[in-house]
Amino acid sequence: MDKHELMTVGAVAERSGFAASALRFYEAEGLIRAERNSGGQRRFERSVLRRLAFIRAASNVGLTLDEIRRELDQLPDSRTPTKADWQRITKHWRGRLDEQILALEKLRDGLESCIGCGCLSLQRCAISNPQDVAADDDTGAAYLPRVLRKPPVRR
Ligand code: FES
Repeated sequence: MDKHELMTVGAVAERSGFAASALRFYEAEGLIRAERNSGGQRRFERSVLRRLAFIRAASNVGLTLDEIRRELDQLPDSRTPTKADWQRITKHWRGRLDEQILALEKLRDGLESCIGCGCLSLQRCAISNPQDVAADDDTGAAYLPRVLRKPPVRR
């Protein structure tokens, strides 16, 4: 396999695990680039796989699409992150990871507690969330840490 060989959307989708629709979305959002062949079909450089791995990792850390874009925009000429880039960028993720770890620990330890989701299905809900007062605070499970209530990044 030649690293300079251009890849089709299907090949990138298969190798990266992203749906073709997600690749089109990320291209439209300017996070990845594709060339067009003479037939107008998308062709990707193989290095797009590294950018996609970065996007997946960043979204799993909890970065929003805008935050991911800002990180990728810091790279000269929108190039693929090098090892040094990766280390610089992920240094900023430590705080996010710490926040997520704390939130997940709280979720794990509170699985039998009322999470303020509006279901009112547990005995404790009558005490913790009478008449679903949590709905006044926020949508979703209002008693969970905010980091666990963000909508997922599209993949
Ligand atoms: S667990 Fe859903 S409202 Fe209490």
